[in-house]
Amino acid sequence: MTGGAGFIGTHVVAGLLRDGYDVTIVDAGHAGAHRTPPAGVPGAALCRADLTDRPAMAAALHGVDAVIHQAAMVGLGVDLDDLPEYVRCNDLGTAVLLAEMARARVHRLVLASSMVVYGEGAYHCPEHGPRRPAARTAEDLTAGRFEPACTVCGTALTPGLIDEDAPLDPRSVYAATKVAQEHLTAAWARQTGGAVAALRYHNVYGPGMPRDTPYSGVAALFRSALEAGDAPRVFEDGGQRRDFVHVRDVATANLAALTATGNGPGWRAYNIASGHPATVGQMAAELARSAKGPQPVVTGQFRLGDVRHVVASPTRAETELGFRAAVRLTEGLAEFAYAPLRG
Ligand code: UD1
Repeated sequence: MTGGAGFIGTHVVAGLLRDGYDVTIVDAGHAGAHRTPPAGVPGAALCRADLTDRPAMAAALHGVDAVIHQAAMVGLGVDLDDLPEYVRCNDLGTAVLLAEMARARVHRLVLASSMVVYGEGAYHCPEHGPRRPAARTAEDLTAGRFEPACTVCGTALTPGLIDEDAPLDPRSVYAATKVAQEHLTAAWARQTGGAVAALRYHNVYGPGMPRDTPYSGVAALFRSALEAGDAPRVFEDGGQRRDFVHVRDVATANLAALTATGNGPGWRAYNIASGHPATVGQMAAELARSAKGPQPVVTGQFRLGDVRHVVASPTRAETELGFRAAVRLTEGLAEFAYAPLRG
């Protein structure tokens, strides 16, 4: 289990231990994710090593049947100075892991991928059918034109559900490294006859989420603001849609994928989502209500490179992995409003 000391990894490890697996965590305690070196999890072995450390990886893989690969640098980062570290952690780290898995004859892998591989979600033009819009311009966003328009006729597009066969269109360094992870693991599966389930997480939230950092997702930023007595600051007009999926559901999906990848070789991607999208404005309001904090402020600010809507079809994961999210947003946010965050 790589990244087993992180936000999502900790929940996956708990699920693995509950199901009786022998777990070895490989985690470097990267400073981007951990302000203090992470403690291990009782019941799991901890190997404090960077994935690019080949001898450490070879040792950690001894006697292993399957790998769940969660270790990664996530989020938007600070600036392009981060670029080499994203590529080193996410892509070189994955490459070393895969090479050592091949040497150790470990043939099962569950990869933590992300919905960021899609770029914008799926859209439909009443006149021109399915569309995948280009990145929005600073000019449009400054003028408050947040909805992507049809490139042929300029009509505002209707958002829809994205499925796993959509073309990949990474819009950030992080997204590019996740696409590279998908491609590297697909090549590995072809060459080794191994099995890979690439789990494209949508917006994960829940207990243990990191506090406000340049690498944090929006739920953690809102939760940190509320804890400080401040209103969540909602960008654009708050109408951008995401699928917020609870971290315990994500752990369940990993366990389901671990068993399913045993069924046969090959590479397969799965959206891991709740199936109940919400706008960022709705999520902020609901979290503020649960936390009894100030109501959100809609700022009209924007981040160039943010996508407008990306919401998933959860059908494939349900049909093939038997995974269905159990935590509804209202109950998940009620818990998250008071749940501890990662320091
Ligand atoms: C997020 C994660 C990404 C992860 C993906 C799927 C980050 C930075 N992004 O992508 O790593 O792979 O989910 O799990 O961790 N927003 C506000 N106010 C804020 C910050 C953001 O309104 O203070 C808005 C943004 O404009 C955006 C939405 O919230 O519309 C989501 O932002 P965020 O969670 O940062 O990024 P995602 O692209 O959804």
